[in-house]
Amino acid sequence: MTKTPIAILISGRGSNMNALIEACAQPDYPARIALVLSNNPDAPGLETARAAGLDVMAIDHRKFPKDRESHERAVDAALVQAGVEIICLAGYMRVLTPYLVGRWHGKMLNIHPSLLPAYPGLDTHARALAAGDTEHGCTVHLVTDGVDEGPILRQARVKVLADDTAQSLAARVLQQEHVLYPAALSDYLSRR
Ligand code: GAR
Repeated sequence: MTKTPIAILISGRGSNMNALIEACAQPDYPARIALVLSNNPDAPGLETARAAGLDVMAIDHRKFPKDRESHERAVDAALVQAGVEIICLAGYMRVLTPYLVGRWHGKMLNIHPSLLPAYPGLDTHARALAAGDTEHGCTVHLVTDGVDEGPILRQARVKVLADDTAQSLAARVLQQEHVLYPAALSDYLSRR
């Protein structure tokens, strides 16, 4: 089967990246990883990706002070060079400018730990608990200009338990993220 070359962009531990690595290793999965890229040279996920034999690259945003777009231009050049067709943001904690979003319109997916449009941004689990929500979850969506906005591709729901802390809830949501992201990507590629 023809596998679509994807890039995974990370900033930290990369557990969603790892779920995508495992999915892409399956012969019948419709994507392969052409590049793992991070804005953070110390992201632990880079080591995981390297150990899996993948091409990895760090483009440190701190070397582009006060200029998000020039950092994104360097990122974009690396993605094009690697032959990437689809980007998966997986804990890539950068606010994107219209430049990168426009360049990859309809070709950039993100995973977010809430049932969007509820709780864009940070601390989603604590905010869901503080609001007394009975249900929480995660979303894979296409990236548009707003932070954690854009057409929703798939969601997974998790029941909030009476004794949940932000940590326990986050752990159960994360398990769902690891199932949701590979499924949503595969789905999206088959519909393109
Ligand atoms: C994940 O929970 C992901 O949904 C979240 O960051 C975490 C990264 O973990 N992303 C966002 O909050 C994006 N707004 P990981 O590095 O282990 O995949």
